[in-house]
Amino acid sequence: MTANSTIEEPPKRFGLESQVKRNPHPDFKKVENSRPPFDDDLNWKYTQIPNKDWKIGSGANDPTWSEHKKITIDPYGENRNPVDNYKLLIGAITPRPIGFLSTISKDGVTNLAPFSFFNLVNHDPPIFAIGFSCNKANPKDSLRNILETEEVVINIISEWFIEAANFCSTNSPFGIDEFKLSGLTPLPSEKVKPPHVGESAFSIEAKLYKIEEFQSKAVPGKASGTLVLVEGINFHVRDDVVNDQLNIVDIAKLKPVSRLGGITFGRTISGYEALRPDYEKDVVNNDAAKEFL
Ligand SMILES: Cc1cc2nc3c(=O)[nH]c(=O)nc-3n(C[C@H](O)[C@H](O)[C@H](O)COP(=O)(O)O)c2cc1C
Repeated sequence: MTANSTIEEPPKRFGLESQVKRNPHPDFKKVENSRPPFDDDLNWKYTQIPNKDWKIGSGANDPTWSEHKKITIDPYGENRNPVDNYKLLIGAITPRPIGFLSTISKDGVTNLAPFSFFNLVNHDPPIFAIGFSCNKANPKDSLRNILETEEVVINIISEWFIEAANFCSTNSPFGIDEFKLSGLTPLPSEKVKPPHVGESAFSIEAKLYKIEEFQSKAVPGKASGTLVLVEGINFHVRDDVVNDQLNIVDIAKLKPVSRLGGITFGRTISGYEALRPDYEKDVVNNDAAKEFL
């Protein structure tokens, strides 16, 4: 089955804010006020995995998945607006970590903005990927600063400053300092010029490693996005959030905020542990595995 939504007007470029229509609520404050307040007492807890007695070869822990049909979507199918792909993908590829980027312009103006096309992609050297929904010719301020200075600090957002961090996504003109607008605290970095965010429990000083621009398929001849790979060269971690060996972060204290679809953010308040399976032990030397080989 194929589903395509109708377009009102052809897209100008990916991520164009006026086309995204992010806020699903005609009266956002009314909806927000109708919800229970933020529950600060919800602290991290471990539970068991959904089926702790799962057996090799037994598939999903819930068989009801087979009661549903799948809809196939061609991202460039007739009448499909690429903005629908953007909205679909940011809802499906979740939860996404958020890189809260601190940069500095050539003239020394600091800039802060959140980016959830973000992840760790290698550890030796530590390489991080950041996706900008813009091109190099018409860059967002953070990208412009990275292109000009080749430096950035990635800060992890925790629950205790989510409102201020979200405010830094404002479409302010180049030269406006979101540290000031948000009330967040710039602390000097050691190996790069951009400061790190004092409120953040984990920050990474980084230098530009590689840049790749993506060509739009919807608007031929237009670059629609820019991938920036950066190398982490210095870390700052809050002392109560890391162990004495400086290699394990306490998730209960980090309280990282993730990005879900639309304008929804995620909390990290529950988890379960699972052992990593070993082929020799769990398959070769497991009689129950024979019928699945
Ligand atoms: C949680 C969150 C995640 C975001 N992720 C991205 C992203 O991955 N890529 C992007 O181009 N913009 C993203 N944005 C939008 C930018 O933050 C926004 O365009 C901001 O104005 C850019 O600021 P700058 O011009 O100072 O760099 C995100 C916004 C929010 C609130």
